Formats: sequence, structure tokens, C-alpha cells
Amino acid sequence: MAAPRTTTWDIEPHTRAKHEILKRYLQAWTAILASGGFREVLYIDGFAGPGRYSGGEDGSPVIALRAALGQHARAGTETRFRFLFIEKNQERAQVLEEIIEDLNVPENFDVDVLGGETFEVAFRELFDLYKTGGSRHPTFLFIDPFGWIGAPFSIVREVMGYRSCEVLVTFMYEEINRFIGHPDQEKNFDTLFGTGEWREGIDLSDAGNRRQFFHDLYLRKLCDEAGAEYVRSFEMRNKKGMVDY
Ligand SMILES: C[S@@+](CC[C@H](N)C(=O)[O-])C[C@H]1O[C@@H](n2cnc3c(N)ncnc32)[C@H](O)[C@@H]1O
Repeated sequence: MAAPRTTTWDIEPHTRAKHEILKRYLQAWTAILASGGFREVLYIDGFAGPGRYSGGEDGSPVIALRAALGQHARAGTETRFRFLFIEKNQERAQVLEEIIEDLNVPENFDVDVLGGETFEVAFRELFDLYKTGGSRHPTFLFIDPFGWIGAPFSIVREVMGYRSCEVLVTFMYEEINRFIGHPDQEKNFDTLFGTGEWREGIDLSDAGNRRQFFHDLYLRKLCDEAGAEYVRSFEMRNKKGMVDY
């Protein structure tokens, strides 16, 4: 699917599935952390979108907020929930801000929308500020780009280097596969993978082997370089049955 140009867009079935996974995971994450005695937790959505699809469905930032709000309503919590939503497109960020205002979040929620900034720049400016007394709070980072640009592996590695921090990445295989041999994109793929080893996969002609190669490369980097202890991946197929991410 080509990246939409409008402020909001129609939700796709595989997006619904992605949201269901995110919702269920965050319902557990917020419950565990809120009852785990953590003073503060940080949720970063690096490619936040407008928070709503054109049919009124919630986008990922709102799904995350609702998971934490549900936990708050059920059990109450002293834990400070900090949300950082980064969205490069100003109009989309504006829509998201309006939705968040209407949600009336409780006093122990801090929600910031960074509109007009890229994930990479905003993350590098801000991540170090979200510390107390030098210690890092449990962090969940969601990386959900339209393609392969602007999601550097170096950031994944940095976040995974801390205790109780985790990352969910939408690895946009369909787009990656289409553009991986493009001469203008070499630098972007070096950044995405954090290595030049992806070049070894370009000439694999069997579609399954090729997909497995890029999957395994990213997974290996997560385990060997980012120090990830637990890694789980799953395929999301689009309406045509092709692996989208
Ligand atoms: C796939 S959509 C996000 C969808 C959203 N996470 C959800 O599930 O509801 C990607 C979003 O990232 C924004 N974007 C594109 N490049 C970006 C960048 N480098 N940094 C931050 N946001 C970016 C786009 O404007 C778009 O709204």
C-alpha cells in the first residue's frame, strides 16, 4: 500500500490485527508495571500517526493511552505514565493533540505530542531527559513507519541496552523487499539494519529464502548486538495474502 497523503486514512485489516496485538500486549504491560512498584514508565510511539482512522477507529497512541487508562480505572496506580508521541506531519499531530485533550487523562499521566519532528531527531533530543537520578525507567518503544526510512537500528540497540525496556518494530518487509536494491537507498538500509550485511540478501532469487534472510539478519542483530533476551516475530499478511510486515 502506498503511504497515504491525507491526514487520516482508511484502516486496513492487517492494521487492525497489529492494533489488537498492541492493545493486548499493552494491557498486560501496564498492569505488570503499575503493580510492580515502578515510580515511572515511559511509552514512546515514534511514528504516532493522527490517533484516529477515517472510520473513527483508534490509532496506536490512543490504543496505548486507553490501555493505561483501563489499568488506572481498574486498580488505580501511583505509577507516573509518560507518553511521548512523535509525528512528523503537523496536521496529523494536531488531530492527535485534539483527541488526547478529549480523553481527560488523570494527573499521573504526562502526555507529549511532538509534531513536525522526526522520530530520530526527537528521540536523540529527548530520551536522556526521561531519567530520574540517572536511572532509566521501564520503556516501551513502538516503531511503526510506513517504510524503512527513519527507524535506525542504533536507537533500537540503545533502548534494548537498558533493563526492563522493550521495542515493537513493524518491519515493513513488502516495501523493504521492493526497494532494497535501489542505489539511492543504500544509506537508509545501512541505518535500518545497523550493518551493510543486508547486501548479501539482494541476489537471493527464492522469495521465501530472501524473506527469511532479512528477517534472520534483523533478529540476529537484536540478539547479538542489542542484547535482546526475548525476541518474537510474526508475519502480517495483507488482503492479497502477501507478507506486508
Ligand atoms: C504507519 S503510520 C503510523 C500509524 C500509527 N502508528 C498507528 O498504528 O495508528 C506512520 C506515521 O509516521 C509518520 N512519519 C513518517 N516519517 C516519520 C518520521 N521520520 N518520524 C516521525 N513520524 C514519521 C507519518 O506521517 C505517519 O503518520
